[in-house]
Amino acid sequence: MSLTAPPLSLYVHMPWCVKKCPYCDFNSHGLRSEPPPYAAYIDQLLADLDADRADLAAALEGRPVISIFFGGGTPSLFAPELIARLLDGVRERLPLAHDVEITLETNPGTVEHGRFDGYLAAGVNRISFGVQSFDDDKLRRLGRIHSAGEAEAAVKSAQDAGYANINLDLMYALPRQDLDGALTDVERAVALGPTHISHYQLTLEPNTVFAANPPPLPDDDHAWAMQEACEARLAEAGYGQYEISAYAQPGRRCLHNLNYWEFGDYLGIGAGAHGKLSDAASGLVRRRWKSRHPRAYMEANGGPARIGGDSMVGADELPFEYMLNALRLVHGVPMAAFAERTGLPSARIAAALSTARQHGWLHDDPQRLHTTVLGQRFLNDVIGLFLD
Ligand SMILES: C[S@@+](CC[C@H](N)C(=O)[O-])C[C@H]1O[C@@H](n2cnc3c(N)ncnc32)[C@H](O)[C@@H]1O
Ligand code: SF4
Repeated sequence: MSLTAPPLSLYVHMPWCVKKCPYCDFNSHGLRSEPPPYAAYIDQLLADLDADRADLAAALEGRPVISIFFGGGTPSLFAPELIARLLDGVRERLPLAHDVEITLETNPGTVEHGRFDGYLAAGVNRISFGVQSFDDDKLRRLGRIHSAGEAEAAVKSAQDAGYANINLDLMYALPRQDLDGALTDVERAVALGPTHISHYQLTLEPNTVFAANPPPLPDDDHAWAMQEACEARLAEAGYGQYEISAYAQPGRRCLHNLNYWEFGDYLGIGAGAHGKLSDAASGLVRRRWKSRHPRAYMEANGGPARIGGDSMVGADELPFEYMLNALRLVHGVPMAAFAERTGLPSARIAAALSTARQHGWLHDDPQRLHTTVLGQRFLNDVIGLFLD
């Protein structure tokens, strides 16, 4: 069985936020009295990319980048000139596909007037807003730095700047939220006419303020009822669900996230960024991640200390890793993709597939791997079947 090189993406991590939200376990650090070293960080990102290109040259040879994603943290804390400098540097170092998707995550509380024009001129063609909710009480409870009105104004100013591709992040199953509250949030999001909506269930993540002091959250049955009702409302409004939490207008799926879920390849630069690369020559999948703390990452100055870890994924872990991604996709993936992306024969997962089908979690389709509605509800159990 041989591995085929899949599409290649680039993830860029920006590790600062105005203020840490109590539910968030992303690698993000609230601002202190001194501003972060924004310009120096851009230099380090390019040094990191140079070093990765040198180390991984054989596996990268001749492959165009199909998408770039600035994630955080809050990338919109970086001025457009810095984003332009980084993107110019990337263009000098890697071939970009002619229709490359370039997304920048944005906190609506950080975008003063004029920024969107600058990001667009730099080459960003997709803006993702962390809106979370349109209920000001809920926003306060979530520790957000913006009101619903400010989020609406920010989305409109991105639309006025000419972005054709806009995503809104919403969360549901919020503290003391009921079904009507969750539906109202979806209604207000739809009214703004974004091309994409990410609709995440709020989860209590270890080592967060919410985990230490849990707010009263809706139980699983209520959360599932919200998910179903919101999904139906989004479908009615023209947003098709294609992944557990992702909804898009036709032709507006997020190429970058799709590449993750389809077990594509990606370079990861920046503090704590993860990368995955298939090496067709050795037939192995490599994972590399960067030093998590911004200071340690920057002090490495593009040297080996910037790497937090680097390892080949064992054949015993690959089926689980593959399913963890692929089964999130509502329409699943072609059966043949498993062998192409992991280099393993499909016989390797035959027993787990058969158990999943007996439970009614997977469709009985020899051509595609896709979950039933029941399978989506119990996704963690389905994926658990593929643990070695
Ligand atoms: C990196 S943030 C987006 C940009 C920016 N940092 C912001 O929050 O406005 C990615 C998204 O993950 C989601 N998220 C973060 N923590 C979560 C949690 N504990 N449960 C569910 N969704 C979460 C939020 O919707 C958030 O917008
Ligand atoms: S602004 Fe976004 S990344 Fe930063 S702490 Fe809040 S949710 Fe996390």
